[in-house]
Amino acid sequence: MPGILLDTMRGQRARQVPLWLMRQAGRYLPEYQALRAEKGGFLELVYDPDAAAEVTIQPIRRFGFDGAILFSDILIIPYAMGQKLEFLAGEGPKLSPTLVDHALNGLTAVPERLSPIYETVSKVKAALEPGTTLLGFAGSPWTVATYMCAGEGSRDQHQTRSMAYSDPAAFGAIIDAIADLTIEYLVGQIEAGAEAVQLFDSWSGSLAPSEFERWVIAPNAKISAAVSERCPDVPIIGFPKGAGEKLPAYMNETGVSAAGLDETIDPFWAAKVLPAGFPVQGNLDPLMLLSGGKALDAGAKRILEAFADRPHVFNLGHGIGQFTPIKHVEELVSIIRNWEA
Ligand code: CP3
Repeated sequence: MPGILLDTMRGQRARQVPLWLMRQAGRYLPEYQALRAEKGGFLELVYDPDAAAEVTIQPIRRFGFDGAILFSDILIIPYAMGQKLEFLAGEGPKLSPTLVDHALNGLTAVPERLSPIYETVSKVKAALEPGTTLLGFAGSPWTVATYMCAGEGSRDQHQTRSMAYSDPAAFGAIIDAIADLTIEYLVGQIEAGAEAVQLFDSWSGSLAPSEFERWVIAPNAKISAAVSERCPDVPIIGFPKGAGEKLPAYMNETGVSAAGLDETIDPFWAAKVLPAGFPVQGNLDPLMLLSGGKALDAGAKRILEAFADRPHVFNLGHGIGQFTPIKHVEELVSIIRNWEA
């Protein structure tokens, strides 16, 4: 029997509001810290399918969330395209050579770097109760391209944005190559057992409207069409973080099945502008969860009320922070489980 998360993503208002949290497997959990220390680093964890499967399941065991998200990273795609990938302590991810000064066709693809990820998916799938939905994911081409071009995260993505203006042909080739591999990667995760997938577009908010159409909506529409054709009935959650007023256009034009909302979106506005019955996911401010108390209770209930008459998956508006107290997560679970519309 499919769980309430999958039912909700498919457009049903389930008997309860399902819940999972972005970055739910991670550094706020002592059991994650312990396994990460034992394996020696983040990539070592990701490339050990038994350990990655264990980390994926840790938050399910502790909190009983309705969805388990594959433990991996959006930067596995650049790694499989042939860039070098490192996670340096305290500095975030680094990719090299950077594509602002190195040609895309100078990279040698290493497709076998995707195989251990599929193995993790199969292992998690075998271990989960059928009512817990297994979510796969990938980064959206624009967000992945910002890391591939600049070699690291940046506040305003200026190097990538100026490359997109000054050399749209070269930049378009990068976007196309990412989109094509992402289609294969998502289909591979689904074939290994993922029941729904999420496209993370963390930096979509930095683009001007015409650029948003070209570099966010168009490639996500291509991915969504190709994945849906090969894997009908597998919901695709689009998460265009920072899209703001461009959100309805993204949802209408990409063909994704559900709207992932960040915490800057007013849930009552989203409920008004998105088509009736369109599934939504979100969107508690991660800092409200970090702070806890009355603000957490009121903030969570406001979101539940805004989405009371459409399919809604409760989530944060972005990843859980590493200093979030476990007690606050337990409080949030209890608020969601005890809520009745
Ligand atoms: O949600 C989940 O629990 C699934 C796993 C997941 C990770 N990263 C694990 C991770 C997912 C879906 C991601 C997505 C991701 N990765 C995004 C898009 C979503 C977002 O948060 O905006 C981006 C931009 C990345 C790139 C990335 N990976 C950065 C910038 C960093 C360093 C920042 C940080 O938090 O340390 C990572 C590392 C990373 N990816 C960690 C985890 C659990 C922390 C690794 C560690 O030090 O243990």
